[in-house]
Amino acid sequence: MKRRNLKRTLLAAALAGCVSAGAMAADLAPLPEPKFNKAQAELGRYLFFDERMSGDAALSCATCHDPKKGWSDGMPLSKGYPASEYFRNSPTVLNSAFKKRFMWDGRLDGSDMGTLVRDMITEAHTMNMDSRLMQERVKQIPEYVELWHKFRKDDPNGMRIYGVIGEFVKSVVSNNAPIDRFLKGDQSALNATQREGYELFKGKANCVSCHNGPLGSDGMLHRTGVPENPAITAEPLRHITILRHYSTSGMPNYMHTHTDVGFYAISKNPKDKGKFATPSLRDLKYTAPYMHNGMFKTLDEVVDFYSKGGGAGSEIKPLNLSDSEKRALVAFLESLSGEPVIVEKPKLPAYKARAFGKN
Ligand code: HEC
Ligand code: HEC
Repeated sequence: MKRRNLKRTLLAAALAGCVSAGAMAADLAPLPEPKFNKAQAELGRYLFFDERMSGDAALSCATCHDPKKGWSDGMPLSKGYPASEYFRNSPTVLNSAFKKRFMWDGRLDGSDMGTLVRDMITEAHTMNMDSRLMQERVKQIPEYVELWHKFRKDDPNGMRIYGVIGEFVKSVVSNNAPIDRFLKGDQSALNATQREGYELFKGKANCVSCHNGPLGSDGMLHRTGVPENPAITAEPLRHITILRHYSTSGMPNYMHTHTDVGFYAISKNPKDKGKFATPSLRDLKYTAPYMHNGMFKTLDEVVDFYSKGGGAGSEIKPLNLSDSEKRALVAFLESLSGEPVIVEKPKLPAYKARAFGKN
């Protein structure tokens, strides 16, 4: 717990020192090949789909990050462990290997997949699982122990199990989008409308100032003024989880906060109120609804929102796009999605009685 807080504080300090380099030329880039440990990812694939990784053995990672729903869950706000509901949208895990930070408020470092997986598994409102119980459950499944022994001599243990799931997550990438072929020189990969949209994206609409690099994300925090989702306070089960998040983060005066304050809960710097991490723009075809709170159902709604300059306190100036410009921009956004990336749920091996004399 202490260590995690320290990490978050360091992250906050690092972010506070970062001023966005507006003058720097930025563009999108093709997605590179991910680096991951193949033997670990093989066991991780089973564990990702295995409901026994949650306290009541009813929820797996795939419940909220379903490959058939763009590795998200298709809902505006994510569900939670029974008797809880979450207050934010479940993001896709596609291309997580390349994310600079995790979570909508950017509270976790993108290079620390193990901590991210541990939080998902142990937090009471996601999978509510005790680490030691998880370790013993994994050891009670001989097929898992066998897969483990392909990369380590000891038995499945603690934090390393989180790392193993992380290696699978890193392997899930979508680098077959038309934009990748276009950026590698195939002009015909985008049609004329999409090419017009790309020019707007880089020019008049200047989306590229925040949405750049291989993911279409600068990995920074920004305020776009997305309207609040009323459900976070109107639905008691969600209100409970957001207040719990604020109290865990040590946010001052949190009982009087009726909005999702984003990065402010982490940094405690009033300048960060309403700031969220720039999300990836890949695979949007499969990941509606959009934004940290699922407030927009379609890309048309998102582009309309930006055309008006975003919402309250937004960093963006009104763009006043014409209808045909809006259509071109949406067509371009669609070119950042390729074929869906599907991994089927493997047949999960059963618990077996252990051989005595062995741990
Ligand atoms: C009950 C639903 C639920 C379950 C189960 C769940 N997640 Fe998540 N996951 C979420 C939500 C919601 C967020 C975003 C939280 C936030 O931003 O505050 C998230 C965030 C993430 C992220 C960060 C993505 C990003 O773009 O920031 C990754 C990676 C991830 N989860 C992987 C996993 C893995 C691996 C598991 C299984 C060990 C898992 N999740 C289980 C709902 C869930
Ligand atoms: C000042 C930085 C900035 C600019 C400029 C910007 N965005 Fe964003 N974008 C963000 C942030 C931050 C979010 C997440 C906001 C939230 O969830 O509250 C976001 C979210 C999105 C999403 C939702 C993605 C998802 O998975 O939910 C889309 C789509 C999007 N932006 C497209 C665009 C387009 C198109 C433009 C240009 C018209 C643009 N953005 C300009 C920072 C920016």
